[in-house]
Amino acid sequence: MPSPLNLSHCVADSLDSGLALNSPSIQEWPTFQPALRLGVMASGNGSNFEAIQASIAANALHADIRLLVVNNQGCGAEQRAQRLNIPCQLWDHRQFETRERLDHALVKAFLQADVELIVMAGWMRIVTPVLIEAFPNRLLNIHPSLLPSFKGLDAVGQALEASVRISGCTAHLVQADVDTGPVIAQAAVPVLPNDSPESLAKRIQAQEHRILPWAIALAGVKWRQSSGIKGS
Ligand code: GRF
Repeated sequence: MPSPLNLSHCVADSLDSGLALNSPSIQEWPTFQPALRLGVMASGNGSNFEAIQASIAANALHADIRLLVVNNQGCGAEQRAQRLNIPCQLWDHRQFETRERLDHALVKAFLQADVELIVMAGWMRIVTPVLIEAFPNRLLNIHPSLLPSFKGLDAVGQALEASVRISGCTAHLVQADVDTGPVIAQAAVPVLPNDSPESLAKRIQAQEHRILPWAIALAGVKWRQSSGIKGS
């Protein structure tokens, strides 16, 4: 006898394969002349960092990752950078007396790398106005909830705890308060009855990997227009 249809798995599979609600939907990718110069910051696994690079390699996002900064030696993001041959610098927050001192070092590194936009792709530190004001409207973050719901740590756990039926992820510009700032792109996914923190996080991450490169392109167009650089 065929096994009964598991509707929740069907819904999850179809949504995991890219049918989740994505706003704004991904349209034609803009071309940047010259390619957009990116800095990326990551603390852990680095799957979003690699998704950005994959989008570049697929000729979707027209950009170049000039520098990855990590704060945890040997983290997944650092290993991915080695494999992908992308310049990576370790700036360990434990070596700095204050958050501001670390951010001054990061500003210097990103200015030296001549980046236009910086992406916090799983940067698990609070950033200060030192970094935010050095790159106004040019610092992006990806967060695993539909902001302004569930700011801060363990957003996926917070969503499960609140029994929401829909969650998702948000790419936004960074302002001084944690997980605030103008939204650039969001994707919504269902929360299924049997979801664990891991299964929901996985569904949300699949969408992060789609919307983050797109949000970079959208922010890049705005930046090039405001900076008066021709050809964007
Ligand atoms: C992502 O879920 C992101 O939303 C959060 O940190 C996580 C980083 O994952 N800010 P990864 O390191 O990109 O795999």
